[in-house]
Amino acid sequence: MKHKIAVIASALFMALTMTACGASEPASAPSVAEIDKAAVQEKLNKQDGKTDESKADDKQFDGSTVATQAETKAAADSDGKNILVAYFSRADENYNVGTIEKGNTQIVAEYIANEVGADSFHIETVTTYPADYDDCCDVAKKELADKARPELNGTVDNMEQYDIVFLGYPIWWGDMPMAVYTFMDSYDFSDKVVIPFNTHEGSGESGTYSAIGSYLPNAQVLDGMAIQGKTAQEFSSDTQQSVRDWLDGLGF
Ligand SMILES: Cc1cc2nc3c(=O)[nH]c(=O)nc-3n(C[C@H](O)[C@H](O)[C@H](O)COP(=O)(O)O)c2cc1C
Repeated sequence: MKHKIAVIASALFMALTMTACGASEPASAPSVAEIDKAAVQEKLNKQDGKTDESKADDKQFDGSTVATQAETKAAADSDGKNILVAYFSRADENYNVGTIEKGNTQIVAEYIANEVGADSFHIETVTTYPADYDDCCDVAKKELADKARPELNGTVDNMEQYDIVFLGYPIWWGDMPMAVYTFMDSYDFSDKVVIPFNTHEGSGESGTYSAIGSYLPNAQVLDGMAIQGKTAQEFSSDTQQSVRDWLDGLGF
C-alpha cells in the first residue's frame, strides 16, 4: 500500500509538476526488504563493548533489546569512526527551490552526521550534472533508461571500519540517482547496517528502501526517512526536529 502511494505520487509528480521530468514511468521497486532494527542496536552495542548480559536492562524497541539513547549517542560519538553518512546531492537549479547553493539532501545529511557524530562522504560523479534543471532531468532520464553506473569521484577511506552507513539521496525519476547504485557497487556492505534517507518533491521514498534491501542482500537495511526537498532547504528547524525524532526512534 505504502509503495502504491509512492508510485502514484511519483507518477503525479512527474506528470503534473515537472516539464523535463514529465514523460517517464517511475522505476518499479523490488520485493520488500528484510528490516531488522535490532541489527543497528547490535552494532552500537558492539561499539560500546556491551555483553549480552549487560544489555538485559536496556529499554525495549520494536521487540528488540536496545541501549538507551544516551548510551548509543555516547557510543556513536566515542571515536566518530564507526558511522558514515554517505549521500548524493546536487546544488544548482532544482524543482520548487530555484537555484540553491547546497543540495537538499546534503542539508539533511549534515544534520544526521552532526547528531550521531559520523564521518561524511559526498557521492559525486566525475562528470557533473548540468546546472540547468531541465537539462539535468534529461541526463538523469537517459541514465535511468540505460541503467548507467556513472563513474564516481573519490572513494571512502577504509570502508571496512564502518558498521553503520546512513545512505542519502534525492528521488530522481522515481528511483535513486544511478550514482548511488555505483556507490553500492563499489564496496562490500556485508554485515553493515544501512539506513537510507532521502529528499523528494512528492514521491516520498518511492520504493527505494526496499530496492536498497534487494541490491544489498548481505546488509541489514533499515526503514528510512523521507523529507520534502523544499522543507529541507527552507525550514531548517522543522527538518532538524524530524531528523532528531527519527534518530530517537532508531535508538541513537
Ligand atoms: C533529475 C531529477 C529528477 C527528479 N525526479 C523526481 C521524482 O521522480 N519524484 C520526486 O518527488 N522528485 C523528483 N525530483 C526532485 C528531487 O527529488 C528533489 O528536488 C530533491 O530534494 C533534490 O535533492 P538534492 O538537492 O539533494 O539533489 C527530481 C529532481 C531532479 C533534478
